[in-house]
Amino acid sequence: MSQALKPQDTRVLVTGGAGFIGSHTVVELLNQGYQVVVVDDLSNSSPVAIERIRQIVGESAAERLRFYQANVNDRDQLSRIFDAHDPDRVIHFAGFKAVGESVSKPIEYYANNIGSTLTLVDVMRDHGCKSIIFSSSATVYGDPDSLPLTEQSPKKPATNPYGWTKWMIEQMLADLNTADPEWNVVLLRYFNPIGAHPSGLIGEDPKGIPNNLVPYVAQTAVGKREAVHVFGGDYDTPDGTGVRDYIHVCDLASGHVAALKWMNGREGAEVFNLGTGKGTSVLEIIRAFSAACGHEIPYVIDPRRPGDVTANYADCTKAREMMGWEARFDIDDMCRDSWRWQSQNPDGFAGA
Ligand code: WQD
Repeated sequence: MSQALKPQDTRVLVTGGAGFIGSHTVVELLNQGYQVVVVDDLSNSSPVAIERIRQIVGESAAERLRFYQANVNDRDQLSRIFDAHDPDRVIHFAGFKAVGESVSKPIEYYANNIGSTLTLVDVMRDHGCKSIIFSSSATVYGDPDSLPLTEQSPKKPATNPYGWTKWMIEQMLADLNTADPEWNVVLLRYFNPIGAHPSGLIGEDPKGIPNNLVPYVAQTAVGKREAVHVFGGDYDTPDGTGVRDYIHVCDLASGHVAALKWMNGREGAEVFNLGTGKGTSVLEIIRAFSAACGHEIPYVIDPRRPGDVTANYADCTKAREMMGWEARFDIDDMCRDSWRWQSQNPDGFAGA
C-alpha cells in the first residue's frame, strides 16, 4: 500500500524527465508542489530543457527540482540517487522511441528499454519504493478491430520492437503486482502527444529527420523542410489520410498528476487511456497548422508507410470517471502552441 502523502511531502523520481513528455510533466509536478528528481542520460534530450523548466516554474518552485545526468540502466548510479533522495513514487519515461529505428536496432531497443526498466524496479524494490507510473502507448492496441479504443480493447502483437517493449513492460509491471500486491502500478497509454508548453520555452525536439508527423510539419512551416510527405492518401478515412487521436502534451502532463493523486494511498495495477476521444487526419493537421503559422504548408502524397494503421482514437471514460481527468485542449491549441515553440526555437534546444 503506498502511504497517502500530500504533494509537498511526495518525492517523485522522473526517468527521462528532460524529454518531450517528461519535461512537460516535470513542469506540472513542480507547479503542483511535488519534490522532483529527474534522471536522464540526455541521449535523446538536452540539458537546456532542465534550465527552461526552471525558468518556467520560477526560482522558488525550482528549489524542489534535482537533476542527474545518468542512465537508468546504471545500477550503481541509480542506487546512489535512490539512497540520496528516497523517492516515494517513480514516473518512468526513459526509453528509445523511434518506431522505424527499432526495426533496424532490436538489440539496442530491448537492452535499453527492457533492461533499464528491470534495473529500475529492482533498485526501487531494494529501497522500498513500489509505486510506479509507466509511459505506455496506444501502440499496444495494434490495428484496432473496432473504435474507439477502451482499456478493455485487446492488446495486439506489436509490429516493431519499440511497440513490443511497451507491450512487454506493461506485462512485467502487472506481474510485479501479481507477485507482490504492495506494488502500485499505473500504466498510461498515450495516443499521439503533440503541442508544446504555451511559453514556447520547451517542446518536441527530435534529433535528425522527425519520424512523427507534427514535428515534421512544424519544421516545414519554419522552412527547415521542403514539404510534408503524407504517407498514404488512399486509406478508408474521410479524406484518405491516416487518422489519429492527437493530445496536447500539457494534457498528458496533467494526466500524470491525476494518476499520482489517484494512486496515492492505493495499491494494485491499473491501465488508463490518455487521449481526447477525437480522430484527426493528416490533412486536417496540416490545415490546422497552416492556420496557426499563417501560411500554407506544402505537402505531397506519398505511398503508405509500412506498419501504419488506418485509424485509432481513444475512449477516455475510465480516466474521467476514476481520476477526474480529461483533455482540455483542441487541435488548434496544439498547433498554435507547437508553432510558437518551433518559431521561437527553429533549431530546437541546440539553438539555445
Ligand atoms: C501519425 C500519422 C502517419 C509522419 C507513433 C508511435 C506511438 C508514439 C507516437 C512515441 C500517421 C502520418 C507521419 C510523416 C505522415 N510514439 N505521417 N508523414 O505512427 O501514429 O505513432 O508515434 O511516443 O507509440 O506508434 O505517429 O506521428 O509517426 O504518424 O503522413 O512524415 O501521420 O502515416 O497516419 P504514429 P506519427
